[in-house]
Amino acid sequence: MIKPAVLGGRPMFEEEMHITRPTLPRLDIDLFKHLDRMFSMGAITNGQYVRELEEKVADYLGVRHAIAVSCCTSGLMLVIKALGLFGEVILPSFTFSATAHALMWNSITPVFVDCDPEGYNLNPDLIEASITDRTSGIMAVYTFGNPPRIKALEEIAARNNLKLIFDAAHGFGSEYQAKRPGSFGHAEVFSMSPTKLLVAGEGGIVTTNDDELARKIQIGRNYGNPGDYDCEFAGLNARMEEFNAYLALASLPNLEGFVQRRNDLVASYKKELADMPGLSFQRIDPADRNSYKDFSILIEPLTFGLNRNQLAQALKAEKIDTKKYFYPPVHRQKAYAFLYAGYEESLPVTGYVTENILCLPLYSHMEEKEVLKICSAIKRIYDFREDIARIGDENA
Ligand SMILES: Cc1ncc(COP(=O)(O)O)c(C=O)c1O
Repeated sequence: MIKPAVLGGRPMFEEEMHITRPTLPRLDIDLFKHLDRMFSMGAITNGQYVRELEEKVADYLGVRHAIAVSCCTSGLMLVIKALGLFGEVILPSFTFSATAHALMWNSITPVFVDCDPEGYNLNPDLIEASITDRTSGIMAVYTFGNPPRIKALEEIAARNNLKLIFDAAHGFGSEYQAKRPGSFGHAEVFSMSPTKLLVAGEGGIVTTNDDELARKIQIGRNYGNPGDYDCEFAGLNARMEEFNAYLALASLPNLEGFVQRRNDLVASYKKELADMPGLSFQRIDPADRNSYKDFSILIEPLTFGLNRNQLAQALKAEKIDTKKYFYPPVHRQKAYAFLYAGYEESLPVTGYVTENILCLPLYSHMEEKEVLKICSAIKRIYDFREDIARIGDENA
């Protein structure tokens, strides 16, 4: 049996296997033609390319308005401001920091509710117990691309007169009950940063069917200035640059192919790892589609024989990059922990998932043979689990 690299064997990969890589358009004459057009028009931000991206994204998602912004974080900040949220907003702690930061920048108190143990999304069954007379909204996340239980969230929001926003940063390529995201809740906000399926470099898209909200986001991304410099509210500079819009436009026709490719790669991962004791996968409702912005495994340490950190360390020795994601959860991060010291007890699932989850490499132009090699590495690490456990958890 070949020894794993952490015990002195040869690493599975010669070159680092990255956790993710942006899938970019070709650097060819076509790109230079577009750059030439941008330069000759003299408009390098918030111009024709941005308008075209907004139209095509609205069309792809089947929503009335798609408003391009500088990133998902600024989009969330603007939506929260434009909807007039106040007091407290309910959200998961098992998410990326920006979900909560967007509330903090609007002086709103994040109220963290636990996630569900299988899909890792905000658990609707626990929300109503956290609603107070200060609650003004709910912000749910498409965790790793997995759509949350949208119908249940919509019912809770309607019953309690709350605004419902989706942090759909991972949502390009996802589907909820065979419907593309974009028109759920009051607004959804997507990211097009380099780790996403649709890459603009930096960029975000706010989507809504609400005309007045769309108007506010349009002026909000421009300081709140409706055009006469008499600002309606304190907005941001959250405009998108033309080159970023071009990158996303060039990728948009390939988006469906990217989702398919990622789902195929995940199917290979799952097939190869299906019989490994102590490993489980994020549950996706069969009626939904996951964009698989990320692919994660959950490690049950007693059954697997190694904990998450030990497995990550052993994979690093194989030159396989992994990510403990999301770790730490938002309520434990330095910016929040002092406010949320007593929260641990109300977030047991978040605690368990964040301690045991590990994201494996996945990107839209990754090859199946790379998945197979990563799975072989995991299998040989498992075969030597007792020796590896003995060398300790240095990655903690
Ligand atoms: C769930 C979630 N929300 C928000 C963001 C922020 O997106 P952006 O970098 O476009 O601001 C991210 C970034 O990856 C994210 O994962």
